Amino acid sequence: MSLKVCVVGSGAREEAIKDAVLRSPLCEKLVQSPDDGADLIIFGPEQPICDGLVDYYSSKGIKCIGVSKKFSRLESSKIFAKRFMVNHGIKCAKLLPVEYDIFPQVVKSDGLCKGKGVKVVYSQAEKDEFTRKIPKPYFIEEYLAGDEISVMSYFNGQKLINFCPARDFKRLTSDIKSPNTGGMGAYCPVDLSDVQLKKLNIYLNLLQNALIDEGADFTGFIYSGLIWARDDWYVLEYNVRLGDPECQAILNYLDNDFLSILLNNEEPQYKTGYSACLTIASEGYPDNPIKGAQIILPQDDDSVKVYFAGVKVENNEIYSNGGRVLSLCTVGENPFPVLKNFAEKIQMEHKIFRNDINIF
Ligand code: AMP
Ligand code: GLY
Repeated sequence: MSLKVCVVGSGAREEAIKDAVLRSPLCEKLVQSPDDGADLIIFGPEQPICDGLVDYYSSKGIKCIGVSKKFSRLESSKIFAKRFMVNHGIKCAKLLPVEYDIFPQVVKSDGLCKGKGVKVVYSQAEKDEFTRKIPKPYFIEEYLAGDEISVMSYFNGQKLINFCPARDFKRLTSDIKSPNTGGMGAYCPVDLSDVQLKKLNIYLNLLQNALIDEGADFTGFIYSGLIWARDDWYVLEYNVRLGDPECQAILNYLDNDFLSILLNNEEPQYKTGYSACLTIASEGYPDNPIKGAQIILPQDDDSVKVYFAGVKVENNEIYSNGGRVLSLCTVGENPFPVLKNFAEKIQMEHKIFRNDINIF
């Protein structure tokens, strides 16, 4: 095979996907647009998937990696996702009446909100303020306490191929009340107990059967956000894409060819140790990041891979141009100190990153 591949999207996740595709013997070259004669299109972000572009390009006979519009509602409608889980015996948080007044509880806006439609609220005042500003409809669900993991799976039309569990750090700081972000870092694999592994396999089988029962007819990624509570895995959310930054950690951890997993039924194989990713963001993130600072990367250190998340390149100089600016990745026995050391050496005004995160 000698494929012209188009990766749709332009963040650090898509940079990591392109990097993995370019390493593949099955790839002839990357092309910019699906209309440039692509043989294979890999969709990164959820928006084009939810807009139905996978259906559109599939109908033109181009092989697409992305969830169909029908199943994209697993991400674009949390009510659709709840119904899917309940119908197939998949555990999720219980729905509560809208006026429920015991806290904490969780408010979720139904539609796509770029991570801003969900909040754990601790008081009536906080609930009132949040529900005033989010898109309607919304619903309330029980608060579950526990450790979270992200499990990314690839549905190849017949079965699920599952990547190892990853963990992301969504909060801006270590403070539990600090804002949710798109992700300040991630690592994989997450070490799980035998019981957790057994229950994870049960859950993934339920998900696979649910997709088959519902007639899933796409080849694409499904992300399960899971929490360990009451001695089982509960689904907090579905996404119809790879997680960002979990994708960067997983793809750098792969020891076999990504395209062979997508196209030839191969199971993922991994390097040893851990793979980690650290986000370099800009002050003001997530609401109002400062942009336009010049970035100078350390020249004497090739222990870390750098993916551009939100940058502008002008005359060979790079400038911050978004909230999440860079994604730093490395693999090793103890990868976070290596990433933090590299992060310290990056010259960029208003640089922020999480110094406290680690493998745990
Ligand atoms: P979501 O976008 O649904 O993954 O929610 C974002 C974050 O909110 C999750 O990663 C959790 O930390 C938190 N969260 C969502 N739903 C719940 C829940 N039912 N109980 C506790 N925390 C939750
Ligand atoms: N890192 C969480 C997400 O991609 O939704």
